[in-house]
Amino acid sequence: MVVYWIMKKFSIKTFGCQMNVHDSEKMAGILKASGMAQAEDQSDADIIIFNTCSIRQKAEQKFRSELGRIKSVKKKRPGVKIAVAGCIAQQRGAEIFKRAGHVDYVIGPQNIHLIGDMVKSEGVKKTALEDNPDIAGLELPALRGEKGRAWVSIMYGCNNFCSYCIVPYTRGREKSRASESILREIRGLAKDGFREVTLLGQNVNSFRSDTDFPELLHKINEIEGLKRIRFVTNHPRDLSDRLVEAMERLDKVCEHIHLPLQSGSTRILGLMNRGYAYGDYKEKIDKLRDRMPDISITSDIIAGFPTETDKDHGDTVKALGEIGFDGIFAFKFSPRPGTAASLMEGQLPEDLKAERLHEILRIQDGITLVKNKGLEGSIADVLVEGLSQTDGDRLTGRTRTNKIVNFKKDPGISAGSIIRVRILEAKKHSLKGEVV
Ligand code: SAH
Ligand code: SF4
Ligand code: F3S
Repeated sequence: MVVYWIMKKFSIKTFGCQMNVHDSEKMAGILKASGMAQAEDQSDADIIIFNTCSIRQKAEQKFRSELGRIKSVKKKRPGVKIAVAGCIAQQRGAEIFKRAGHVDYVIGPQNIHLIGDMVKSEGVKKTALEDNPDIAGLELPALRGEKGRAWVSIMYGCNNFCSYCIVPYTRGREKSRASESILREIRGLAKDGFREVTLLGQNVNSFRSDTDFPELLHKINEIEGLKRIRFVTNHPRDLSDRLVEAMERLDKVCEHIHLPLQSGSTRILGLMNRGYAYGDYKEKIDKLRDRMPDISITSDIIAGFPTETDKDHGDTVKALGEIGFDGIFAFKFSPRPGTAASLMEGQLPEDLKAERLHEILRIQDGITLVKNKGLEGSIADVLVEGLSQTDGDRLTGRTRTNKIVNFKKDPGISAGSIIRVRILEAKKHSLKGEVV
């Protein structure tokens, strides 16, 4: 008798931040190592994983509609297993089974190392949601989605409890990896041809294990073959002078920092439990620019936090003008279950939040365009990421300052290479260039 072994296939759909993107790469790495293959399409997968985000209500809604859609898939192919991973999994837990009977597994971000065993288990519904005190000691294989640049986790969780934020509840307390384990991983990546690493954590600059963050950057900077080092995200309070010095001194550390401000009003920052006043933040920006005049600075802003007055909002608008960010991500405040801000008096109506958000975005768009116009005619090193998603005749990549540059396709240029590009034209969210 001939026994045919049919390889099971998995598909992962990812929502949310870079941490989730990289967690999905790790889950894919684990499943591949356990003998499964990545499905070309969700429709031919035996295991469908949703790696979810609950940072704002909108993110949760997106996932809910996906979950509804997938019900019919399970009806047609009852053998398909469905897993919910990520921050909604952690937050809602086994409640998900009640609301969505077609889900088989619920696995939180601290337990992704268990995904391989989980999907092999038969029958009953399973959860993996416990706190994982050993998470920083794990070394998981990752099936990386990109050529040239790679995500590398250096710390997990968050201790900050900003009053609006769900992350400390879904990702647990801060834990940092040992430096040798991080260095080993990055040396391996450099050997495999990766040119850029982005160090990941909810609060990377509070990294502390056997070394601190500036010291870790020094060590990574020495790795042969590696060309670029990035890191996200930074908390303004933890941006030390030593980190600024390290950024200035180390040639591989890129001239970009993402430093979420959240609000220009010191009163609102207090209610947000951010631990700095607007003046403190501005001082850090001045220090960064003093040392690195061409550094690009991006940020996050929340519009319409509880009790925010026209004056508070005006302070944020003023801050945008004063600082001149290269770009921002801005969001309407979204009350998240269990957070302090969701219970505060003085919640604002949706239309007022939307109005303020639009004003913030409109003003920033103007600032970004002026900044980008200033780059026209200059030449920049671009790490090529691949074909542009909107134009198959163009390649896309990023400058060291993290600006997206699109330029004409060339058979001699492949993803992962670093080339010199002249900036021809600035747009709101990207630059147009030509290879020199
Ligand atoms: N750890 C990162 C941020 C993670 S969340 C940091 O502290 O910088 C990314 C962004 O989402 C935050 O910076 C914040 O601007 C936004 N955000 C978080 N919770 C939110 C909420 N409840 N409503 C609206 N925006 C929120
Ligand atoms: Fe959330 Fe604040 Fe932690 Fe960032 S630092 S993840 S905003 S609690
Ligand atoms: Fe979302 Fe969790 Fe990241 S809530 S933003 S996936 S940490």
